[in-house]
Amino acid sequence: MKFFVDTAEINDIKELAATGLLDGVTTNPSLIAKSGRDFLEVTKEICGIVDGPVSAEVIALDHEGMMREAEILRKIADNVCIKVPLTIDGLKTCKALTSDGTKVNVTLCFSANQALLAAKAGASFISPFIGRHDDNGFDGMDLIRDIRLIYDNYAYETEILAASIRHGVHVLECARIGADVMTAPPAVIKGLVKHVLTDKGIEGFMADWAKTGQSL
Ligand code: E4P
Repeated sequence: MKFFVDTAEINDIKELAATGLLDGVTTNPSLIAKSGRDFLEVTKEICGIVDGPVSAEVIALDHEGMMREAEILRKIADNVCIKVPLTIDGLKTCKALTSDGTKVNVTLCFSANQALLAAKAGASFISPFIGRHDDNGFDGMDLIRDIRLIYDNYAYETEILAASIRHGVHVLECARIGADVMTAPPAVIKGLVKHVLTDKGIEGFMADWAKTGQSL
């Protein structure tokens, strides 16, 4: 499973990229606002840190506006992936951009039928929002499961990019189901390494090693 980080914070992206475990980055207008940075500048900086796709979301809600913004965004770097909302205009834009070889991430997906439409529009990625789905009384994992089944039925190449991930259990379930990618906040990704028995084990080994009086 590929790991994307869901943030526009440069230091977090650098830290995770340095581990070699980071496959891409996703941003959205809220994350850009949170960073306090200029949209185009910060996107360019992120694209220079990671080799993989960096999702940058259009702001326009109409097809013509989305195409105009996509034109600006895709000039930033070769690894920019244009993020469009799951609307008729977003799907139309997705079809036009992907026919032209541009990578497109269709975002704000909350149903398997929406995901089916995105695949038909040639999306490179579909972003089902697990956490927000759960928040509203639905099972986000059922959504991932349904999309996996449908995409496999028709051998769609659109990658399932599980989004709105809130904790490690979401990551684990996505991996079990076979989501292609997951995007999570930096703290969730860093938290995956934590286990009390790992810490305890290291502590024990260090204490015993000290008793040997040896050094390496
Ligand atoms: C995905 O691309 C979105 O940016 C993100 O995962 C949304 O997550 P949230 O529901 O935690 O805001």
